[in-house]
Amino acid sequence: MCGIVGVTGVSKALPYLLQGLQKLEYRGYDSAGVYLTDGAGQDAFIKEKGRVSQLAAKAEKNGFEGTAGIAHTRWATHGNVSIENAHPQKSADNRFYLVHNGVIENYQELKDIYLNNVTLVSQTDTEIAVQLVAKFAAEGMTTEAAFRKMISLLAGNSAYGFLLIDQQEPETLYAAKKKSPLLVGLSDHGNAVTSDATAMIDLTKEFIDLQDGDLAIVKPDQVTIYDEQEQKVDRPSFTLTIDPEDTDKGAYPYYMLKEIDEQAVVTRKIAGHYFGENGELQGIGCAITDKMAEADRLYIVAAGTSYHAGLVGKRYFEQWANLPTEVHIASEFAYDQPKLSDKPFFIFLSQSGETADSREVLDNIKKQGYPALTIANVMNSTLTREADFALPLLAGPEIAVASTKAYTAQILVQAILASALGEPGFDLKAELAKVAVEIQAITDEKEVFQQIAADALTDQRSAFYLGRGLDAAVALEAALKLKEISYIQTEGFAAGELKHGTISLIEEGTPVFALLTQSKTAGLLRGEVAQVAARGAKTFIFASKDLAKEGDAFVLPQVQELLMPLLAVIPAQLIAYYATLARDLDVDRPRNLAKSVTVQ
Ligand code: AGP
Repeated sequence: MCGIVGVTGVSKALPYLLQGLQKLEYRGYDSAGVYLTDGAGQDAFIKEKGRVSQLAAKAEKNGFEGTAGIAHTRWATHGNVSIENAHPQKSADNRFYLVHNGVIENYQELKDIYLNNVTLVSQTDTEIAVQLVAKFAAEGMTTEAAFRKMISLLAGNSAYGFLLIDQQEPETLYAAKKKSPLLVGLSDHGNAVTSDATAMIDLTKEFIDLQDGDLAIVKPDQVTIYDEQEQKVDRPSFTLTIDPEDTDKGAYPYYMLKEIDEQAVVTRKIAGHYFGENGELQGIGCAITDKMAEADRLYIVAAGTSYHAGLVGKRYFEQWANLPTEVHIASEFAYDQPKLSDKPFFIFLSQSGETADSREVLDNIKKQGYPALTIANVMNSTLTREADFALPLLAGPEIAVASTKAYTAQILVQAILASALGEPGFDLKAELAKVAVEIQAITDEKEVFQQIAADALTDQRSAFYLGRGLDAAVALEAALKLKEISYIQTEGFAAGELKHGTISLIEEGTPVFALLTQSKTAGLLRGEVAQVAARGAKTFIFASKDLAKEGDAFVLPQVQELLMPLLAVIPAQLIAYYATLARDLDVDRPRNLAKSVTVQ
């Protein structure tokens, strides 16, 4: 997804902006640009396709650093990947420069009504916005009034994070936000605006989260914020508690491997946060459990990997809390809402807390008056702020596009929450301590999975993950991991479905991985593995210790069966990592993907 950074009142703007864009790279983009000014009439406007490093080379060659500026990484939505379509977009009179995250639904109509005599240079909706500001300013409006006027014309479902700079007011940044995150960074040596606080950590750790409808006027030593009713407001600031090395790869070649390795520590951190010394639950207010106890049905709503984590969490809420639970893909639920029970309770699972599909659903169910809890890795995010309740995943920043530690963290926090509503029948705190040890044991055997990836996937275009019950849910996540970074077409599915169609795809050498941790269906699954092997498949069984047999590809340490997904997913994460490495692909930044999908 696109990224926004801006600074004003600093000694050298360019380094802050480039460092900021580099920290935003993990979100996914395909072009970048920067506008710089020194407040004394000198400026520079530089854009480039491809990587931030290419923009940096161009900007450093230009040599101008400025004391204020705005910059952007663009993930193409309207218009192809080109320098013209990169942001900042500028007005025809070269006075205004604008960067934008989001989508302007009615940009075409606005162009037809207001900009017929303006020569446009891009295919973007953002250019329409900046040309409108210039038009209204040319008609005599102040920059603030022209900015407001443009915003007032945007159709209701438009989403925006805008950052505008006016060449005639070079030290003032104009920021506005609706649905697309935007924060103001405060420091005594200049101020900032950013779509992701971590991007401006080199300048400050103190931020203000702008709310939908806010408009902020950010000067080197003064920040004024107006709310949707254009009333001046004092928004509270928060201090980012991130440790810089948390967002640093350290000795790892890729963030993904670091984040896979962090899962054992994250497990301990989560257990330490939600369990007291004597095993008593903490950190989950009774307001949440009381509200959930009133519900007659639970709806878990999420996207991608988080949806897969919900499929596992469902079992905990049903088996421990006796709460019927449905798990829904956010983008489907948003426009095809099922018939709800009389007293529903919603849980939103999200690493970023900014996924547009999930935000759409939260908006909808809040309008219907239903209670919602967000479980997310990024607190101060839209989904955590706008739900009635929020619980942290505590996984630490997850930078790699492929989600790993957030997935296991989501399973862990759902298990802990469910245990607050009903009895697991075993000592969950003690079991999670065991899970942490066993995750570590698996990640200590990386070379096993590097070899499996080499044996199974080197020259393959497709692969399959099978499972039954909970393992079928993990098979979906295992398949997503492999396909999204190695580009090997991978399908995960319930093994019982093989004979209803998929088995026709099995050929000589087709790699089939089976996750076998559920005793009730272990025999059936071994039969299905035999069926595909009989048709030439290259099969690999990852079985839990109590169910393992001679010849299985890997024996998973044994923990409570319902917690086995926390272990069964680790081999799949590592196989995806090594298969991608072997193909010499960018493990952390797969093509076409973004870390946080903030547009629908
Ligand atoms: C998973 O590897 C992907 N990064 C993606 O499926 C992700 O889980 C999905 O976009 C949901 O994001 P969220 O957890 O931030 O809401």
